[in-house]
Amino acid sequence: MTCAARPTLSAPRIAIAGAGIIGLSCALELARRGATITLYDPNTPGRGASWAAAGMIAPAFEAASEPGVHPKLFDLCLESARLWPGFAARLEADSGKPVGYAPGPSLAVAADPATARHLDGILNTLAKRGLPGDRLDVDAARAVEPSLSPDLLGALRLETDGHVNNRAVVSAFLLLCERHPSITLEPTPAPLHSRGSTLDSDGHDLILVTAGWQSGALKVTEHGQQVSLVNWDISLDEIDTYGGQMLSVERRADHPATTLRAGPIYMVPRGSELVIGATMEPGRTTGMPNTDDIAGLLSDAAQIVPSLADARITSTWSGVRPGTPDFAPFLGRTRQPNMFVAAGHYRNGILLTPITAQIIADQMLGAEPGDLAGAFAPSRALPAQA
Ligand code: GLY
Repeated sequence: MTCAARPTLSAPRIAIAGAGIIGLSCALELARRGATITLYDPNTPGRGASWAAAGMIAPAFEAASEPGVHPKLFDLCLESARLWPGFAARLEADSGKPVGYAPGPSLAVAADPATARHLDGILNTLAKRGLPGDRLDVDAARAVEPSLSPDLLGALRLETDGHVNNRAVVSAFLLLCERHPSITLEPTPAPLHSRGSTLDSDGHDLILVTAGWQSGALKVTEHGQQVSLVNWDISLDEIDTYGGQMLSVERRADHPATTLRAGPIYMVPRGSELVIGATMEPGRTTGMPNTDDIAGLLSDAAQIVPSLADARITSTWSGVRPGTPDFAPFLGRTRQPNMFVAAGHYRNGILLTPITAQIIADQMLGAEPGDLAGAFAPSRALPAQA
């Protein structure tokens, strides 16, 4: 009788629950480092928040001066933005598909004094860190992006903030995962079972939860009953939903060629289209886009770029952002020693994909988290022990 070798920690069998951009990229990184992966998702891979996103890589606009966010979120975002050029180049080389990575700059514009003050706050944070960022008056902003309204109060040029075609990225990852001999995609929910005090997924050595806002809703079979995965780590219960509606329009020569931010509105060129977002709707998880909300977004965008007033809408959609209490992801080992989580990326899932894959692969293959990664452990959401 031959005895199957027990997998070592350097080549574990890993079950991943959730095949969005985070699950796909973690699967690929872990498989490249020697792990064998089963990637479970009952829905079409990559068609949730990863598909709905606009593809912004925007550390400065999203994290430099946002009240209430994790104190190290900006560092994490900057670090991941620095990884993006190499990450995109490798993805393109390996898949043979372009992913539309465009480094900065993008322009954040102000149409009112409150937004202008917000831009000053971002500039202040950038300056303290020695990072580039230029305040432009409206004429200088229009020299960069002629489609902007002459009525704006000014702009901030953000060298750190760019974009990528998130749908192309997801498609490239899916291709690479499907091709990889050590990755199996299963179109089913992850089979999770309670075994005494431990959690099992069909004998895999480790489990990674990457199901975004649905992470806490994953089910575990216990004594024939379906119970919530939250029972194994209550931090998963702290991922709330923030719906967002968006649209794309046919991009004309008089429409923006630059990524623009204007308070809650953004515009991102994607091929022959311009993506315009987004509403922010706490608690919303599903639903068709609402005609009035979409008209409102387009009308707000046309205040910034007047030529959008008669733009032809090509598509509308909605997505769900998964948000933790400090709007930063949960990354790392959970209270269940064989279970890890990478979820809760909120508005920054595309931006944070490279650093997430790196942190998760390091930790699941045995490395202790460093200072930055350790700051995003899911245990921060647990009540402090007396
Ligand atoms: N990343 C932009 C958004 O979540 O709307």
